Amino acid sequence: MPADCGRSSLRQGVGITVRMELTGLCLSLILTALMMLDGRSNAEGSLLRSLENCTMVGTAIACQGRRWHQVPMNLPIKTEELLLNENVIKAINNESLSMYRRLRTLNLSGNQVELIQSGAFDHNRILEDLNLKNNRIDLNYLETHLALRTLSALTRLDLSGNRLNEDMTTYIVQNLTTLEYLSLARNFIMRLEPATLHGLVHLRELNLENNYIFEIESGTFEGLRSLTRLNLAHNHIPCIVDFSLYQVKTLNISHNVVELFLARESETEFELETLDLSRNKLLFFPLLPKRNKLKLLLLSDNEMNFYGDLMNDSSAEVHFIQIVGNVTNITSVNLWDEVFSVNLPDLGFLDMSRNSFRYLPHGFFRGMTSLSALQLNQNCLKMFSLMEEEPLFFLQTIDLSQNRLSHLNFSISRLEKLNYFNLSFNKLESVPSDLFAKMPRLVTVDLSHNNVAVCAYPLGNEKRSSNTSCAMLAYIKSLKRLYLSNCELVTLPANAFVGSPLTHLDLSSNTGIRLQASTFQDVAKSLQFLSLRNNGLASNQLDIGLQVTFSNLKTLDLSENCITSLHPALKNLPLKLLDLRKNQLSTLQRDVVQSLLQSLRIVFLSGNAFDCCQLHWWPSLINTKSLIIPDRSEITCNISSKLDHVDSISQSTKISCQVDNTVLKYFLLLLPTVLCILTVCVMVFLSLNSKLLPKYVKAKCGTGTEY
Ligand SMILES: *[C@@H]1O[C@H](CO)[C@@H](O)[C@H](O)[C@H]1NC(C)=O
Ligand SMILES: *[C@@H]1O[C@H](CO)[C@@H](O)[C@H](O)[C@H]1NC(C)=O
Ligand SMILES: *[C@@H]1O[C@H](CO)[C@@H](O)[C@H](O)[C@H]1NC(C)=O
Ligand SMILES: *[C@@H]1O[C@H](CO)[C@@H](O)[C@H](O)[C@H]1NC(C)=O
Ligand SMILES: *[C@@H]1O[C@H](CO)[C@@H](O)[C@H](O)[C@H]1NC(C)=O
Ligand SMILES: *[C@@H]1O[C@H](CO)[C@@H](O)[C@H](O)[C@H]1NC(C)=O
Ligand SMILES: *[C@@H]1O[C@H](CO)[C@@H](O)[C@H](O)[C@H]1NC(C)=O
Ligand SMILES: *[C@@H]1O[C@H](CO)[C@@H](O)[C@H](O)[C@H]1NC(C)=O
Repeated sequence: MPADCGRSSLRQGVGITVRMELTGLCLSLILTALMMLDGRSNAEGSLLRSLENCTMVGTAIACQGRRWHQVPMNLPIKTEELLLNENVIKAINNESLSMYRRLRTLNLSGNQVELIQSGAFDHNRILEDLNLKNNRIDLNYLETHLALRTLSALTRLDLSGNRLNEDMTTYIVQNLTTLEYLSLARNFIMRLEPATLHGLVHLRELNLENNYIFEIESGTFEGLRSLTRLNLAHNHIPCIVDFSLYQVKTLNISHNVVELFLARESETEFELETLDLSRNKLLFFPLLPKRNKLKLLLLSDNEMNFYGDLMNDSSAEVHFIQIVGNVTNITSVNLWDEVFSVNLPDLGFLDMSRNSFRYLPHGFFRGMTSLSALQLNQNCLKMFSLMEEEPLFFLQTIDLSQNRLSHLNFSISRLEKLNYFNLSFNKLESVPSDLFAKMPRLVTVDLSHNNVAVCAYPLGNEKRSSNTSCAMLAYIKSLKRLYLSNCELVTLPANAFVGSPLTHLDLSSNTGIRLQASTFQDVAKSLQFLSLRNNGLASNQLDIGLQVTFSNLKTLDLSENCITSLHPALKNLPLKLLDLRKNQLSTLQRDVVQSLLQSLRIVFLSGNAFDCCQLHWWPSLINTKSLIIPDRSEITCNISSKLDHVDSISQSTKISCQVDNTVLKYFLLLLPTVLCILTVCVMVFLSLNSKLLPKYVKAKCGTGTEY
């Protein structure tokens, strides 16, 4: 730093001299002198020109995407960070970087670098971070290795996307002992062996994502004593046996073809905190290290199941055959013993969604005392139990949706912290009536797509004694969001939600549900979102339900019903969103529309049979600036029994409506007169021909009898 300050003050002095004795000779003399003083000042002189293409902030220079063919030569020599990504540089030769001796960070990603001369970094001894992502390092990797070897301070190296195979990789990265971070993602690596990463003793993070790795020889990571993050996602690894990376904290093996994960049996503690095995082909629950610090265990999208119920003798032994060279090693593991000897005392998040679990073994959650989120959605569970000895004190969310559950068995006294419980898409016909009462923090319950009735409050005597099948949803004092879509609800008993401060209530797709005046009584004040979609509601049914005053209702979904007119009660609702799609509305009452428009921001109206001649409400909608009609282009109306887009109703249509009206009016006016005249004519005619009448009638009847 002091040297820097000295030089700049010297230059300032010279600058003043130039301005004061402004002669051509003097100027050139001084400049020459200056160049001799400091060989780089000509670079400074042309700085403005070269910086046209780059931007400088402090000691960082950014020259991204400027079509540079080589490293610019004229940048300030004090540059510490040089961003040259997305240019077209092909080679880094011995001179390219020789003047930038203070360089710590160099980004060359997204160029076409294929040659880095062996002496390229001879003068960049303090370079720490080198990004060579997306280049062609594969073409001259031998020389590149020689160049990299001279970087004695290099801690971060990105070689991703360089078409490197395992032999090239081995050669390039071997013995780069200072590296702490190395990315080899998106290359052509198929095998890893101990030699590949030899000597990387300080490596903390290694990214091998998106290669073609199908084999990792044992001992490959053994020398990497500092390794804490290892990413092997998107490879072709078929199994992990004898896993013994004690030091690794984060391991990502997602998107492989792992069928089996087997940790070494050992009393040594593993540091592992995050294990991502999602999107593999696991058949068994992984056999995890006995002593571990796992917090996050991701096992979704596998084929896992438990098989103990298929084998009557409790020894569910599995034999693993390992073939190493010409030696075959058979290991026998008793899956049961293993699963239950595993403690996961720190596990907070367990994702087992999208597997094939039919059941969970008795006491499965016993060792998971810190669990806060449990994902079991999209399995084949028929039954879910929590036992007294599985006290999930910290459990906040359970997702059991999309299983085949018909029974729930919660013989625990309380789930103190649970706030989200998703049971949708199951086959539940009953739930223990005290189920939700055991969850004092419960905010969200999704019971949609089951066949569960809702209990009345208070429960009738006969129901209280027997095992009730309905869900008791009253007096859950934390409950805000309740989803009961498609539960085959026929009715909602009185006081069903009393004492539960619901803000969201979804009752959609309960076709034929009968609303009662009392249905919403208890939640009318708190409710902000109400869906009555696809309930087969006619206007009069809706009128009953809307008798109470919803003072906070913001969203009302009435789509897919049989509503023919807007109920005047809608006038009093502070709605922001109203969905009226797919009803039988022919017009909207002007006064209701006017009141709604005071708060409404979004309205859906398509799929109705509006009358083109009664569109008086339409201009007030489209002239309200704050209102959005997302389906505006799909709103149609009927004119002379053909459909037309409301928006494209032209002047001629309006005229034709008027013409029709006037014709009708004149017709109605003239009708009595015409009738009078007709009657008189008929009477005169009859009186003139009174003798003809009986004959005529006889003739008519006579012909009739012939049949
Ligand atoms: C670059 O430097 C290395 C040694 O530092 C030397 O072997 C090589 O010949 C040099 N190449 C050029 C083109 O100067
Ligand atoms: C790495 O170091 C070892 C021992 O120091 C040496 O035998 C080997 O040749 C080196 N590898 C490379 C690619 O330089
Ligand atoms: C593992 O890698 C995949 C693919 O890159 C990524 O989507 C996932 O988030 C990673 N897992 C963790 C726990 O970071
Ligand atoms: C297991 O035992 C039960 C009765 O204890 C029997 O019904 C069942 O068939 C047996 N299953 C197998 C796979 O042996
Ligand atoms: C296994 O291969 C080694 C050489 O690779 C050989 O010496 C040994 O005899 C072989 N063992 C058997 C059982 O074939
Ligand atoms: C076979 O596996 C066992 C248990 O993992 C191990 O102790 C033994 O060394 C292995 N033998 C061979 C030849 O790999
Ligand atoms: C419950 O799960 C289903 C299916 O997985 C999902 O569609 C729904 O949004 C979830 N419910 C809530 C309230 O998050
Ligand atoms: C609108 O037109 C369709 C199709 O011709 C017809 O089925 C429907 O009854 C008409 N509705 C009204 C209200 O005129």
